[in-house]
Amino acid sequence: MSGNQSTKRLWRDVRVFDGHDTLPEPMAVIVEGERIARLVPMRKFDASRATDCEEMARGGVMTPGLVDCHTHLVFGGSRADEFESRLEGVSYEEIARQGGGILSTVRATREASEEALFDAALSRLQALMNDGVTTVEIKSGYGLTVEDELKMLRVARRLGDALPVRVVTTLLGAHALPPEFKNDSDGYIDLVCHEMIPAAAAQGLADAVDVFCEKIAFSVAQCERVFEAAEAHGLPIKAHVEQLSNLGGTAMAARHGALSADHIEYLDEAGVAALHEAGSVAVLLPGAFHTLGETKQPPIATLREAGVPMALATDANPGSSPLFMPTLMLNLGCVLFRLTPREALAGMTAHGARALGRPELGRIQEGAPADLCLWNIDTAAELAYAVQPGRLRQRIFNGRLEGG
Ligand code: NIG
Ligand code: FE
Repeated sequence: MSGNQSTKRLWRDVRVFDGHDTLPEPMAVIVEGERIARLVPMRKFDASRATDCEEMARGGVMTPGLVDCHTHLVFGGSRADEFESRLEGVSYEEIARQGGGILSTVRATREASEEALFDAALSRLQALMNDGVTTVEIKSGYGLTVEDELKMLRVARRLGDALPVRVVTTLLGAHALPPEFKNDSDGYIDLVCHEMIPAAAAQGLADAVDVFCEKIAFSVAQCERVFEAAEAHGLPIKAHVEQLSNLGGTAMAARHGALSADHIEYLDEAGVAALHEAGSVAVLLPGAFHTLGETKQPPIATLREAGVPMALATDANPGSSPLFMPTLMLNLGCVLFRLTPREALAGMTAHGARALGRPELGRIQEGAPADLCLWNIDTAAELAYAVQPGRLRQRIFNGRLEGG
């Protein structure tokens, strides 16, 4: 649509969840061009001053567009067979040790063309968008060669160009040890540090660098080398840490100023303190906890007391979280991790954005980019309370109404 810059759009009588809380009274929201221009309590709203606005809707709950800050949306193949093995009692770790799990997706992703990866990811991304997502992080990590990791990142970037959604990319070269490097994990880390990170940085394909710090993946020392290489190329870092055991990766990542520490079921008090000190975000992934039938809960109460911001994401991937529905995560975050609905929603808006180093997103405030969702519900808590597709009435990306 042309003339977007000058267009003013008005929503009246909406209940606004601003990224942290529900505002105390019904509001009028005015968007000008790509930004939120004014937020006015209805009580003070003077309609005669808004005659130049196009009226978009009245009533409903408005939230920031959802921010899914941790996904592995680009991948080849399926792991339905592994799902069945797990139901028969084989653990995620055993499957990984037998060469399945992540490595099975690596085989399928290497074989897939860029076009095939793009097409498959497009429909997954559309599912997230239909559930309110306006910003999504997409990791590589199923290529594990320089070319295949870059291929995944190119697909992620193209998705952002093709659809009305912000895509933030993360290089996850240190996700699993590829078969070519069996018995030489340090050699593989050399490749990540000396070739993968420089290539991704030079081509502008990665916005951040991530690692999987775990017994079935890489040690704390190896992950630290990856972070040093990321720093040398000016890239922020994130980490999959303390998911299946406590190795101390979180504290090391925090020392390096990580944007976020993700999973963290096994995080201890020292790790929480390290996150607090570094100002890092704790990213909670209840989809993986649910899918893998975990019982060890992340230390929610300790994180809450320490004031560590908690984000919530789908971790959408073919193995540990084949769940492509962000609002389901709001529900699982509350039911499985005892978050309040307010915390869950802040986790998928303001705190999710912060976990991506994009604190201007995930907020409804004057001057912020106008990424918004209008929902057919009466209170924001209903988004977490009921799992019910079809409640998204309008999705506004960068000031523009999508599909309307
Ligand atoms: O976030 N923990 C490691 N990586 C992904 C799982 C990837 C997979 O199983 O394919 C995760 O859970
Ligand atoms: Fe993950």
